[in-house]
Amino acid sequence: MKSTSAVSFFRMNTLMLKATNKDEIKTAAAFLASGGLVAMPTETVYGLAANALSAESVANIYKAKGRPSDNPLIVHIADMNDFEKYGKPNDIAKELAEAFWPGPLTIIVDKMPCIPDITSGGLGTVGIRMPAHPVALELIREAGVPVAAPSANTSGKPSPTEAIHVWDDMNGKIEAVLDGGSCDIGVESTVVDTTGGVAVILRPGAVTIDMMADVLGEEGVMRVSKAAIVKDEAPKSPGMKYRHYAPKARVEMVSGSPVDTYNYIKNNVTEKDGVLVFSEFLGEFGCEKIDFGKSYDKDMHARVLFSAFREMDKKGVERIFVQCPREYGKALATVNRLRKAANEGMATDLRTQKIVGIVGRSGSGKSYVSQKLSEKDRLIDCDKLYADMLKSDCEMTRELAQSFPESCINGRIVKAELAKTVFNDREKLEKLNAITHHHIVKEIMRIVHENPQDNFYLDAPTLFESGLHLYCTKLVAVVADEETCIERIIKRDGITEEQAKKRLANQMSADFFKKYCDQVIYN
Ligand code: TXA
Ligand code: MG
Repeated sequence: MKSTSAVSFFRMNTLMLKATNKDEIKTAAAFLASGGLVAMPTETVYGLAANALSAESVANIYKAKGRPSDNPLIVHIADMNDFEKYGKPNDIAKELAEAFWPGPLTIIVDKMPCIPDITSGGLGTVGIRMPAHPVALELIREAGVPVAAPSANTSGKPSPTEAIHVWDDMNGKIEAVLDGGSCDIGVESTVVDTTGGVAVILRPGAVTIDMMADVLGEEGVMRVSKAAIVKDEAPKSPGMKYRHYAPKARVEMVSGSPVDTYNYIKNNVTEKDGVLVFSEFLGEFGCEKIDFGKSYDKDMHARVLFSAFREMDKKGVERIFVQCPREYGKALATVNRLRKAANEGMATDLRTQKIVGIVGRSGSGKSYVSQKLSEKDRLIDCDKLYADMLKSDCEMTRELAQSFPESCINGRIVKAELAKTVFNDREKLEKLNAITHHHIVKEIMRIVHENPQDNFYLDAPTLFESGLHLYCTKLVAVVADEETCIERIIKRDGITEEQAKKRLANQMSADFFKKYCDQVIYN
């Protein structure tokens, strides 16, 4: 959207201001200081801001959003010292603020009397957050007041992650939208109540329970129980009792391994529907579709979800089928929003077996961990399975013999010869991998499907390269530091340090595994 003057482009009474222009941030701040409403970008979602200390201004937020007035707002600050001006943080609250501010964490504390009842929804507590967005911080500082800001959507609709989303909901109802581009995180902040003895997570977000446990200890933080929300006369977090984030279209969330959810959606989707599916499967659909990011890219899933809902509504689809991300870590926030957007009855869970893929670099101790983890369940050592398959007369060896006749002795493929053939020949190595990965995955899934009553752990060094991760319900990374790995490889395989280093250099990085797996085990 190009315009030299926001005013001349949008002729209605809500201004579209550009955060790249300092003067326009000042204009927005002046609106706030004089009691007006301004939508501001944050790292999570756009917020609908007003002076948190003015009951009258805050009342206008509820009006503009059509929000029930018992649902309290978050007070945004730009200075650590302001925490104690508006709230009474205890040690837990202070430790969390120290660790995660500025950032996507809203901390509930007892409120100071200067916070009007309407801001805190009549509660004696208040949620406070210092956002990690330079524009939000500058705006709050410039306005010189703490800023109450719920997400800048019409109540019940998906939260806005672009200025245009706010415009669609709020045009004509507020003074201005400050356009700061797309929000990086895409789902709202984690809300944590610190007023009891332990930190209780009321709403999952980008700051995960594990991250908080690193600061407060395992016992120091817990999730709110569903029972507490339903039974409690005065719910802990009033916002949680309302249906949220819903597009007009019906949301059908499907949980399971990416391959299973893909198959389900493919079999059920009609021309009138849309799909929000992982990149790996996007090409398989002819209907309206949106790329959800790679199946393991949790940051991307969070970033895409709300804008995908809005985009699908613009396309006018009847239903949106969504491949549900694996529900661990950061994905808990995305899945929480997805579940609230889907009507209760519209969630399909295809998970009947646990299929856990375990990955790690050479020498990380992956096999040891695999044995520990699998305990009563079945463990498949994928390297061993491959070695056994190579020795047998099967589809794989026959195809290999055809593709690599130079690696055959008496018409049978020989492992050592194969290694010589592909050594220093990229193209041949890729061909070898394509053939072997295909057959190994097929063989593993044959075993899994023949034993539907069993759970499986897959010790899989090439979990991602082979595509096996697409069949898993959970991915575990085993990680050790580089020196430890090298030491273990030398000891186990009797090779030189140089050879060990070379082997590691050919493998995917520990950072990749840490970022994209559901659980990380340091070994
Ligand atoms: O990321 C975010 O948190 C965004 C951006 C704009 O900062 N804001 C946001 O605000 O999502 P809102 O109002 O849409 O959600 C605030 C949630 C609601 O579920 C509300 O019930 C809860 O926080 N909350 C606020 N104050 C509370 C309090 N004192 N006690 C319990 N829950 C509270
Ligand atoms: Mg909201």
